[in-house]
Amino acid sequence: VTTENPSPSGLKPSLPYLSAVHKSAYDAAASEYEARVASLLPVTEEAVRQLALALAPGASVLDVGCGAGLAIQVMTAAGFAAEGIELSPKMAKVARRRNPGSRIITGDLLTSNLGRNYDAVLAFAFIHLFPKADVPQVLARIKQILVPQGVFYVGTTQENISSEGFEEKSDYANSPPRWRSRYVAGELVTYLVAAGFEVQSSKLHVDAFGKRWHDYIVTRDDSSRI
Ligand SMILES: C[S@@+](CC[C@H](N)C(=O)[O-])C[C@H]1O[C@@H](n2cnc3c(N)ncnc32)[C@H](O)[C@@H]1O
Repeated sequence: VTTENPSPSGLKPSLPYLSAVHKSAYDAAASEYEARVASLLPVTEEAVRQLALALAPGASVLDVGCGAGLAIQVMTAAGFAAEGIELSPKMAKVARRRNPGSRIITGDLLTSNLGRNYDAVLAFAFIHLFPKADVPQVLARIKQILVPQGVFYVGTTQENISSEGFEEKSDYANSPPRWRSRYVAGELVTYLVAAGFEVQSSKLHVDAFGKRWHDYIVTRDDSSRI
């Protein structure tokens, strides 16, 4: 990573610095992500079943930080017009191989021009890569991408202690440090509501690796707009 961290206090990295860190961290982890796809199929299928309850058939969905592209594959099979955006070129390549018919943009969600809006945005294991102080900006960007009344599916792990900072992924062999924000029960929802999302449903589940996830389906709440 060659980008300098322009926040010398060391308290919170800038977003461009974080993007550079994450691009190389996930390039390094891409083949391990690909190897885990089969184990994550059941939780991904269940998430897409839940999302489908909130969407019309054929709706457009953008998977942000789509990783190896498993959710795009499952959504396409379920009849949705699924696309992805992924910061890491190696991860995007894996996702494209899995989904040759889908548009997968290699780029940063915060700065890329998508050229369109979506009926839904999906963010698995994504929001926790940002410092909590930057979450309002990330959620504002997601709102901007969605159509009015659009649906946002967001999932992060549920922790016993709230924290954030650079961490190595202890369960991956090849994982340089990346930012990890950890949320306790109910914590993420305060950010979602403050950003103008209305919670439709939420669900706790455990994945094949024993991680406890808390997923929310929320909608863009435009009701207070004049
Ligand atoms: C923890 S992985 C999760 C991948 C996938 N969603 C899954 O559940 O398997 C997070 C992904 O988000 C990507 N990412 C991080 N910051 C991003 C950004 N600003 N824009 C687009 N993708 C980003 C990373 O490169 C990484 O592949």
